[in-house]
Amino acid sequence: MEQRTGSAPAIELVEKNGELTLSIGGEQAMQAWERDLMWASADMLCEYGGENGGEFYEVGLGLGLSALRIARNPATRRHTVLELFDEVEDLFRARHPDLPDNLSIERGDFFRRIFELPSESIDGMFFDPALDMEVWTDRALWERTMPEVVRVLRPGGVFVPFFSTRPELRWQYVPHFRSIRVERHPFTAYDTTTYTHGTSGDAYIQCYRKD
Ligand SMILES: C[S@@+](CC[C@H](N)C(=O)[O-])C[C@H]1O[C@@H](n2cnc3c(N)ncnc32)[C@H](O)[C@@H]1O
Repeated sequence: MEQRTGSAPAIELVEKNGELTLSIGGEQAMQAWERDLMWASADMLCEYGGENGGEFYEVGLGLGLSALRIARNPATRRHTVLELFDEVEDLFRARHPDLPDNLSIERGDFFRRIFELPSESIDGMFFDPALDMEVWTDRALWERTMPEVVRVLRPGGVFVPFFSTRPELRWQYVPHFRSIRVERHPFTAYDTTTYTHGTSGDAYIQCYRKD
């Protein structure tokens, strides 16, 4: 969903038959069944906050499940979330009027913003944008972008991308880290979920650590 110019797509929260979906441009950008996987990913990230409290950065607000979990972790000093669309933040704030003081939300496109973030400024990044296939397959883009992610992490800091429903490490991330931790978690999606490989099985949370 890389969108550098042009107008915003239609964004809405769809609540139907006990299911909650954030729909962006008619696509399932996020669904509430992911909560436990978001929480497990957030908890893993927060393990790397160090003794003085962690400073974390997140890409993609969505329903804010991971954002709230990270901000509310006692080990988190500051958590900043980057979101592409005003409407996503508006919907989130309407559902959560009282946000933790250590949580801030900023607007922008990750593929631009990453170049502006200061070096060695964060203990961890949770990376969960919903991207189009043409972005995922753009090798030159990832080769430009991932060294910047490594640059902004402190030594010992981690990059935690959203879970995979295949037991594979993504080529986009692997060459940039030597130490990789993977946790397997069972998941059950909605029957209507279209963005997982099957609607139940195992999900793999990956944590890439900078030396
Ligand atoms: C899967 S949702 C995030 C879900 C979130 N982890 C949660 O717990 O609810 C993806 C979000 O990333 C945002 N996004 C997509 N592309 C982006 C980009 N290039 N930069 C920043 N945010 C982006 C979308 O607008 C959407 O809100």
